[in-house]
Amino acid sequence: MTTTTFISINTSIPGPKSMELIEKRKTYVPKGVGNNAPIFVEKADGALIHDVDGNVLLDFAGAIGTLNVGHRPEEVVEAIKAQLDKYIHTCFHVAMYEPYLALAEKLAEITPGAFEKKTILLNSGAEAVENAVKIARKYTGRSGIVSFTRGFHGRTLLGMSLTSKVKPYKFQMGPFAPATYKAMFPYPLHRPVDMTEEAYAEFCVSQFDDFLHTEVAPEELAAVIMEPVQGEGGFIIPHKKFVQGIYNICRKHDILFIADEVQTGFGRTGEMFASTHFDIEPDLITMSKSLAAGMPISAVLGRAEIMDAPSPGEIGGTYGGSPLGCVAALAVIEKMEKENLVDRSRQIGEQIMQNFLTLQKELPIIAEVRGLGAMCAIELLHPSTKQPMKEFTSAYTKSLCEQGVIMLSAGVHGNILRFLTPLVITDEQLIEGLGIMNRLLVSMYQSTVATEVK
Ligand SMILES: Cc1ncc(COP(=O)(O)O)c(C=O)c1O
Repeated sequence: MTTTTFISINTSIPGPKSMELIEKRKTYVPKGVGNNAPIFVEKADGALIHDVDGNVLLDFAGAIGTLNVGHRPEEVVEAIKAQLDKYIHTCFHVAMYEPYLALAEKLAEITPGAFEKKTILLNSGAEAVENAVKIARKYTGRSGIVSFTRGFHGRTLLGMSLTSKVKPYKFQMGPFAPATYKAMFPYPLHRPVDMTEEAYAEFCVSQFDDFLHTEVAPEELAAVIMEPVQGEGGFIIPHKKFVQGIYNICRKHDILFIADEVQTGFGRTGEMFASTHFDIEPDLITMSKSLAAGMPISAVLGRAEIMDAPSPGEIGGTYGGSPLGCVAALAVIEKMEKENLVDRSRQIGEQIMQNFLTLQKELPIIAEVRGLGAMCAIELLHPSTKQPMKEFTSAYTKSLCEQGVIMLSAGVHGNILRFLTPLVITDEQLIEGLGIMNRLLVSMYQSTVATEVK
């Protein structure tokens, strides 16, 4: 039982009602639909989730980074309700509606790049990636697409093909889409010990240059797609020189640069879009997740002349840019601007970083504490073997959930704790969650690794 100011755990997790529903789920929902927190939700507000057993949990996962404005912000709920009273869906391809237009206009205003931009609205991150690739191919007349090691771009065939984590995303799901190539993405923590971060970034750029001789010729490439900060891959923050180096090579060879900002967008990194940190102006940007506080909507935005390459009917879909998603997104962006949530992202990040940099001094399993804005992560390596602590991390997130904090891991070895807390989380809530995390990490370290290292 845990009762603190915000978190309230009165049953085992999962509680009896969740347990009953989990049994039913086993009958009707395939096990391939993964799940982290074994609870069923009754309601959610801000950074808190109430489960069907009356437990209240703190949400440090934000539906995998979908809820930068938190659960059910009043402005968003009101906008959706008002829209429901007008029309739910007319399909933009059949009868157009203004919220689609208003959102495209707003996105053009808040994204990097002072040039003419156009936007197509879709349903999910993977669908945005698919369409960005279609548009890039149509515009360039080339087919090749380069993504990066440890990158994640979704679970559709093309998304999987561009993704670079085999289990669970690709294993036995091939063959994958042709003309997709993987280049090396830096992993600063694991760089050679005698190399500075900057020299390492330059080395990775030179590897990319080689790659254009060993794997695919630049004139065969339509686009490079990059997460400016890798999400699923473990919140890997590349050096600015790397991102700019790749961007400049793209410019030199007329290869389009697609920034996949599905996870990094909408304030997560302490800028509205992570591309800004690297001083780049992507040709195309894919976005989704925190765009609309949980309404399923995504976008591909890009330079007008590129976006206009496909002819009418070549891109789109029945539900793309649903009116409910559009009004939710407009309310989200307005709220972010009014409440300065981008600044708040930086404050949250500083608090998380400070907390774990202090803890790192007494816990040698914390190999690195890294972050850009509130996109923070902790990488756990065994102090003597330096091996990724996958089982430990998964036991830790399980116990954390039992104590009322929902947290996700990341990384190809599952040994990274990633923060995707709503940016509306209060200081008090954050402190409460961090306190639980600290105590649990210390006690698990002492009862496992510390005894074995002694
Ligand atoms: C960078 C990135 N691209 C694409 C996707 C796929 O988005 P979706 O799950 O909405 O298809 C994700 C999802 O985590 C992502 O993080």
